Amino acid sequence: MKAVRLHRRGGPEQLIYEDAPKPTPGPGDALVRVHACGITPTELSWGTTYTTREGVERLPTIPGHELSGVVEAVAPDASAPKVGEAVYALTDFWRDGAAADYVVVRAGDLAPKPQNLSHTQAAAVPLSALTAWQAFFDHACLTQGQRVLVHGAAGGVGTYAVQLAHGRGAHVIGTSRAVNTSFLRDLGCDEVIDYTTVRFEDRVRDADIVLDTVGGDTLERSWRVLRKGGVLVTVAESAPAEKAARYGVRGVEFIVEPSRAQLIEIARLIETGALRVIVEATFPLPEARAAFVRGLGGHNRGKLVLQVAE
Ligand SMILES: NC(=O)c1ccc[n+]([C@@H]2O[C@H](COP(=O)([O-])OP(=O)(O)OC[C@H]3O[C@@H](n4cnc5c(N)ncnc54)[C@H](OP(=O)(O)O)[C@@H]3O)[C@@H](O)[C@H]2O)c1
Repeated sequence: MKAVRLHRRGGPEQLIYEDAPKPTPGPGDALVRVHACGITPTELSWGTTYTTREGVERLPTIPGHELSGVVEAVAPDASAPKVGEAVYALTDFWRDGAAADYVVVRAGDLAPKPQNLSHTQAAAVPLSALTAWQAFFDHACLTQGQRVLVHGAAGGVGTYAVQLAHGRGAHVIGTSRAVNTSFLRDLGCDEVIDYTTVRFEDRVRDADIVLDTVGGDTLERSWRVLRKGGVLVTVAESAPAEKAARYGVRGVEFIVEPSRAQLIEIARLIETGALRVIVEATFPLPEARAAFVRGLGGHNRGKLVLQVAE
C-alpha cells in the first residue's frame, strides 16, 4: 500500500510518501480502507508518534489519527462493525495512524460515519470533536448558563468547543484574531476577543471554565480569569497543581481517548445540523508534508484533511 511515513523523529521534512506493508489486524482489530485522514499540526512532536505504549521506539511510523473509511476486514473475535460499513474513528496514538491506504484500528473504536458527511468531512471530526467533548463534559462537567472561555476558538479543537458549549447553553467567549470574529459568532460565540489587540484578562472575569488549546503565556494568564472553584482545562500543556491551588480552582490536563459511544453522539449532532464541520483545506495524501507545513503556520480555521481514496 501507499503510506506517509517518518523514518526518524522530526517535523514535516521527515515525511516520506512511499510503499509500506499493508497492516494485518490482530485480535479485536478491524482493517479499514482509508478514504480520508485528519491531521493535527503538532502531532509530529508528540512522543506517542514514535513509541509503543510501553515506550519502545516504533520507527518507521505513520501519522494521522483520525480517519473516515470503509471496513475491509474484521478479526473473528470482534462482533462489530461489519465489512463494507462506512466508519470514522480516533485511532490509538501508540499505533500507526491513517495517513495510508489502510489502517488497523481497535474494532470497538470505530463508529458509523455521519451519514450527511463526505469521508473528507468526517475525517475532520474524531480527534478534535472528542477533545472538545471530553474537555467539557467529562472533565469540566459543563452545565447550562456557565461562562466559558475558549482559547484558540478558530482552530481544530476550538471550532467544536465553541459549538458544543453553545449547544449546552453556555455563554461562550472565544479568543482569536479579528479576521475570525464573524465566523466565530456564527458558530455560537457570544463574545470574541481579538488576542492581538486586547488582553483577555482585561475583559473576562469569573469564568466557570477555561478551555486552553494554546498554552504558554495564554495558559499562564488564564488562571486569574476563573471564579473560585472554576475549572481550567488545557490540552496544550500541563496544568500545575500549585497554580490551581493558588487560585482556588481546578486544573485539568488530559489526552483525548477514543470513544465509539461519544462519536455516535457527535454524529447525531452533526446529522441534525447542531454541529458543523469546518475544513480549512484538503491535500492529496502524497502532499502530506505541505499539509503539516500549512498546519504549523498556526492560523487555520478548523481542520486540515488528507484525501486518500476520495
Ligand atoms: N491533549 C490532547 O488530547 C489534544 C488533542 C487535540 C489537540 N491538542 C493540542 O491542542 C493544540 C491545538 O490543537 P488544534 O488542532 O486545535 O490546533 P489548530 O487547528 O492549529 O488551531 C490553533 C488555533 O489557535 C489560534 N491561535 C493561535 N495563537 C493564539 C493565541 N495566542 N490566542 C488564541 N488563539 C490563538 C489560531 O487561530 P487564529 O487564526 O485566530 O490565530 C488557530 O486557529 C495543539 O497544541 C495540539 O497538540 C491536544
